[in-house]
Amino acid sequence: AVVIHRKMKESGKWVKAMEIVKEFEESCRTPISKLKQVADAMTVEMHAGLASEGGSKLKMLITYVDSLPTGNEKGLFYALDLGGTNFRVLRVLLGGKDGGILKQQFKEVSIPPNKMTGSSAALFDYIAAELAKFVAQEEDDFKPTSGRPRELGFTFSFPVMQTSIASGTLLRWTKGFSIDETVSDNGSPFVFMLIMHSVDLFIGRVGQDVVAELTKALERQGLEMRVSALVNDTVGTLAGGKYANNDVVVSVILGTGSNAAYVERAQAIPKWHGLLPKSGEMVINMEWGNFRSSHLPLTEYDQALDAESLNPGEQIYEKVISGMYLGEIFRRVLCRMAEEAFFGDIVPPKLKEPFILGTPVMSAMHHDTSPDLKVAANNLKDILEISNTSLKMRKVIVQLCDIVATRGARLSAAGLLGILKKMGRDTIKEGEKQKTVIAMDGGLYEHYEEYRNSLENCLKELLGEEVCKTIKIEHSNDGSGIGAALLAASHSQYLEDES
Ligand code: GLC
Repeated sequence: AVVIHRKMKESGKWVKAMEIVKEFEESCRTPISKLKQVADAMTVEMHAGLASEGGSKLKMLITYVDSLPTGNEKGLFYALDLGGTNFRVLRVLLGGKDGGILKQQFKEVSIPPNKMTGSSAALFDYIAAELAKFVAQEEDDFKPTSGRPRELGFTFSFPVMQTSIASGTLLRWTKGFSIDETVSDNGSPFVFMLIMHSVDLFIGRVGQDVVAELTKALERQGLEMRVSALVNDTVGTLAGGKYANNDVVVSVILGTGSNAAYVERAQAIPKWHGLLPKSGEMVINMEWGNFRSSHLPLTEYDQALDAESLNPGEQIYEKVISGMYLGEIFRRVLCRMAEEAFFGDIVPPKLKEPFILGTPVMSAMHHDTSPDLKVAANNLKDILEISNTSLKMRKVIVQLCDIVATRGARLSAAGLLGILKKMGRDTIKEGEKQKTVIAMDGGLYEHYEEYRNSLENCLKELLGEEVCKTIKIEHSNDGSGIGAALLAASHSQYLEDES
């Protein structure tokens, strides 16, 4: 009788858990009809964001980049790439027409914990000092030939309201950076932010000119260097992509956060009151992470995640498609199942810890091809201290990964379709042989194969065979740093001297 009773109890739990999975799956559905609505909503919001400042959740930020690299860029340029979980400094030697990139070197630096709690200036000082060290290691064949200061492209991967190509103020933090306004020793307010669930911290201020801060720190280091371009990572990726392939007109980052940039006709930007650029074009940083629409299939888990996040109500699209959140959505569903005794009588304590399941772990479990799902079993044991899973349970867990990743990937494909529509590149025009290349970067795209495949297949499905032949996604490996250096080159303050 005891055995029968236990079996009944077990199967009751199983039924309940399966109901949760089924319900979740149902609310994550992304049929093509829905994705098309999402794409249309994206196009509509793009128009609204371009029409007026604050006209849409989509900021559609003007970047002051009105021309992308041509291949004629020449000389030595530096870049500083900041905004993920580390920062990178790099230098490139550009060969000019037909020369390409003659030489490049980079260094990746993490910020030591003791620099994390100081003032804003202290952290910029640290970055500037690292940059100065890097410059000091310049080999002879890298040395600039002219006596002019070295120039730097600064990739800053947050929403910035630019006032020129080389100035702008931070609008707000994203990607789980949290801000704490405090008063420093000398009485001036400073703000520090922390990348949640990562050891890195970075200091900065909302509403402060990012370039001015960096420039002051460079001066304090005695480093004579000019910031010639301030760019978002999407814009850097677009520039780097364009340098490698002339057909690149869109860039997308799918990493910790997600965002896109593209080349817009200046005349299609009503909110732009400046001079019409010679090229007639302007790169727009969409900040698409902040997109939201009633057509997005959001679940109770997404709602809870958002409500408990550091930026509730913001970056809703980012919270369903990007790397920072996929693992966390997955954890929340698992936790709900655990509450129904899926893992036994108690909810495994580790499972209650927000962000304990990173997207890389979820990806590893999702890609587990071993017959007994060993990878999944090991991760459950090592990270969540859950060791009593059956193969049948692990299969359900892998299925969950699939639901979360597939929804994210398909929704990002829909976003892309929205951009292509806005650009008029979602159809083939008579007699036109236009090619559209999308430069894509970010760890999620690069490392999460199922996500990548699902995105690409979905885009094919959305566009149809024929149109799809004219559209290509190209992986632009760390193109944002090189792109920033290229933009520093094409916006060099000293170009006149050269010619
Ligand atoms: C976040 C930032 C955005 C950045 C993206 C990818 O969405 O707001 O500026 O481009 O992450 O790093």
